[in-house]
Amino acid sequence: MAAVLRSASIAFQERKRAAAVSGTTRTETESTRVPEDQPSADASDAPATLSALAAAVDRCTRCPLYRHATQGVAGEGPKSARIMLIGEQPGDQEDRQGRPFVGPAGRLLDAALDEAGLDRRRLFLTNAVKHFKFTPRGKRRLHQTPTTGEVDICRWWLDRERALVQPDLIVTLGATALRGVTGKSASIRSMRGHAVELEGGARLVATVHPSFLLRMPDRERAAQERTAFVADLVRARTLLA
Ligand code: URA
Repeated sequence: MAAVLRSASIAFQERKRAAAVSGTTRTETESTRVPEDQPSADASDAPATLSALAAAVDRCTRCPLYRHATQGVAGEGPKSARIMLIGEQPGDQEDRQGRPFVGPAGRLLDAALDEAGLDRRRLFLTNAVKHFKFTPRGKRRLHQTPTTGEVDICRWWLDRERALVQPDLIVTLGATALRGVTGKSASIRSMRGHAVELEGGARLVATVHPSFLLRMPDRERAAQERTAFVADLVRARTLLA
């Protein structure tokens, strides 16, 4: 059974990669998706496994973001992960490769995780919004922040991932991720530095998004913020120790 699931998942990833490489977008693969007037799903429609969930995320048409994205990018990591890291949305590289945090922000995150003594392979990494939102600028695709409405619609998927993985600790990276989890627009500053109990028993550690560090023009300030970011990740690790 495990082998069947694994090969189905590999075939699915291969199809996604082929679409990304050929530059096929959602609009060109419309026939494979559920029509937009699908009835709004409740928890009883929830996929029972992470690989079924990834396939369902890729068919999602709940909001218009799927139209221009290459694919839906679900979370990745072991179902047994005790820590779930939540970002904002896939970026350009993530959209092409179908995996979260594989672009520049992902590289910064990987280095910070290493410094904090956390092994990425044992974490579940996902995003508040599962499709890449961007503005085309020549050959480039410039990141656009998802609206609170888009985050709220996509929470259905985040909640399903949380239900399947049942992490003990959730680390939100940035304000969009924080809204994805709490359903409210809270400032990171007000939540940072202490763990917050969530309904259902998990604890929440809020920190900044790695892209925030990448965008800082002042190198000295960026270095300070990076140190604080790593300290938040260390806090997450020690909370579970
Ligand atoms: N930024 C995010 O928030 N998530 C990703 O997966 C990549 C960049």
